[in-house]
Amino acid sequence: MDGALDDQQNNMRFLGIIRHNAERLARLTGDLLALSRIELKTQEFRFAPHLVNELIAEVLDTILPIAEKKPVDLKQERAPEGTPVFCDSEALYQILSNLLDNAVKYTPAGGAIAVGVQSSPSGGMLEIFVRDSGIGIPAEDQPRLFERFYRVDKARSRELGGTGLGLAIVKHLVRAHGGEVRVESLPHHGATFFFTLPMHPPAGWPETELHPQFTPS
Ligand SMILES: Nc1ncnc2c1ncn2[C@@H]1O[C@H](COP(=O)(O)OP(=O)(O)OP(=O)(O)O)[C@@H](O)[C@H]1O
Ligand SMILES: [Mg+2]
Repeated sequence: MDGALDDQQNNMRFLGIIRHNAERLARLTGDLLALSRIELKTQEFRFAPHLVNELIAEVLDTILPIAEKKPVDLKQERAPEGTPVFCDSEALYQILSNLLDNAVKYTPAGGAIAVGVQSSPSGGMLEIFVRDSGIGIPAEDQPRLFERFYRVDKARSRELGGTGLGLAIVKHLVRAHGGEVRVESLPHHGATFFFTLPMHPPAGWPETELHPQFTPS
């Protein structure tokens, strides 16, 4: 408003900065709303039986262009066909996209990311993992990683545009399914995030067909 609009050298750059910050603010507001809805338990979940491979594949489709841009290699390790998961598909989408967003952000170009399901489910719970070959997380930071606003390297994270809410949201969404989330990492040797979800509906749940199609609400 002070005249930069007519500054032909810089006006596009200024618009870029405005857009970048508007997007950042929108993401932050969205994340804060998501967190408070989950914490206040006003978030409505639509739990239903799904096929785990299909849900994971749908999320990968949306992240693939971002991975290719970096570039990092992004692969799905498919579970045995027909492996069921009982979850809210939109919540699983949010969990995986937050974990994959981090994996891409914190893995240098040329690295590799894999998403899949651990081979032996126990206690009726399926364990899904997101593994990257990136910068890793120091042991002393790992216990606090899932706290809201916690970031390992403030300077680096700011550069990468993070606010530190992604993993807090992941933890709450996983817990809402009765699952747990954890991380294994060695600095400079990548990080693997694991979370568990139930495979089957609780006893007495209405009989439904498996939903092979992912339909974001
Ligand atoms: N795959 C990973 N490899 C290395 N460090 C990670 C990885 N995932 C998360 N971290 C560390 O954990 C911190 C918290 O992650 P979280 O997703 O909560 O926040 P963010 O990515 O910084 O911001 P936001 O997700 O809100 O945009 C990150 O800032 C980063 O330091
Ligand atoms: Mg994040």
